[in-house]
Amino acid sequence: MAADSSGTVQVLVVDDEEPIRNALKKFLAQQQFEVYAAGSGEEALQQLRRHRISLMLCDIRMPGTSGVDLVPQAIEIEPELAILMLTAVNDATSAALCMQRGAMDYLTKPIELADLGRAVQRALKRREMLLENRHLNQWLKEEVTTRTAELHRERQKLERISVATLEALVNALEAKDPYMRGHSARVADLSATIAHQVGLSDEEVEQVRVAGRLHDIGKIGTREAVLNKEGALTPDEFEHVKQHVLIGSQILAPLVHLGDIISAVRGHHERWDGTGYPDGLRGEQIPMAARILGAAEVYDALSTSRAYQEKLTPEQAIQRLADLSGTVIDPTVYDALATIVGRRGTLVFLDEGGGAAT
Ligand SMILES: [Fe+2]
Repeated sequence: MAADSSGTVQVLVVDDEEPIRNALKKFLAQQQFEVYAAGSGEEALQQLRRHRISLMLCDIRMPGTSGVDLVPQAIEIEPELAILMLTAVNDATSAALCMQRGAMDYLTKPIELADLGRAVQRALKRREMLLENRHLNQWLKEEVTTRTAELHRERQKLERISVATLEALVNALEAKDPYMRGHSARVADLSATIAHQVGLSDEEVEQVRVAGRLHDIGKIGTREAVLNKEGALTPDEFEHVKQHVLIGSQILAPLVHLGDIISAVRGHHERWDGTGYPDGLRGEQIPMAARILGAAEVYDALSTSRAYQEKLTPEQAIQRLADLSGTVIDPTVYDALATIVGRRGTLVFLDEGGGAAT
């Protein structure tokens, strides 16, 4: 039961008739309550501000502020206040109004003291339960918020670890091939820049970046002899290489948190005119992230050294890509890429030198 530091429950009696006030005060004091009294609504509000009152016993008919008007004002000062109304026999309507406004119960005059004692205990018990409930709810709410945040953090950590592990695999794969070294990181950065340029949200831009890092992970399943072959591929070998988009999306499939990243990896060799693989999607059927990866990958292939070609300058690479816009590459993506390259003059890549050493 709420009490002051001495353990005594503080009760306020509000009645304009002094004999009633004194009788109630005396009775409640006998019940071991610390009793304050007020002869008017105004005085009651002062007492409520001054003390930590748990229960208010309140007459309805008083000159000045009536009991009906006092109830909401009292609750504003002391939201946890239990209020018992004292009403005349013929005033059930006002009593009901007080209950609506937050009073807990009412007693009809003349009051039997035994009834009053029970009603006071009942009201205080109810107040205590309400308080406990409120604390429990508050605690639960905080607990749920904390646990949810913890879970969220844990999940994000696991997600980051799973992506980082896969990126490490990609790096290991690329490290074997001097021409491919750094390819995924470059495609990732360029793709993210294109994604931003075409107006994707920050979250989507980050998805495109991760997709870029992982887009060729399926090459883990490509035979080394084919992967490292310097000349043109036979039709069979080309079919084998094409599998990397399917293998890649299969590797990523269990990581459900990757969401659209998986379809981007699967679709990065689709072509705008529908002649790409693996699904022969065309135009806007191809996910935007996949269209961006496809363009960035071609740009990267043209602008870095390969066994079979000298690297092109950014301007030359963009010129070459212009011929592919509308057939291989989404024209919108091409425009974005051309704008970026034009704006930067030259794109600075993370690791241009992979092939130069050999
Ligand atoms: Fe690829």
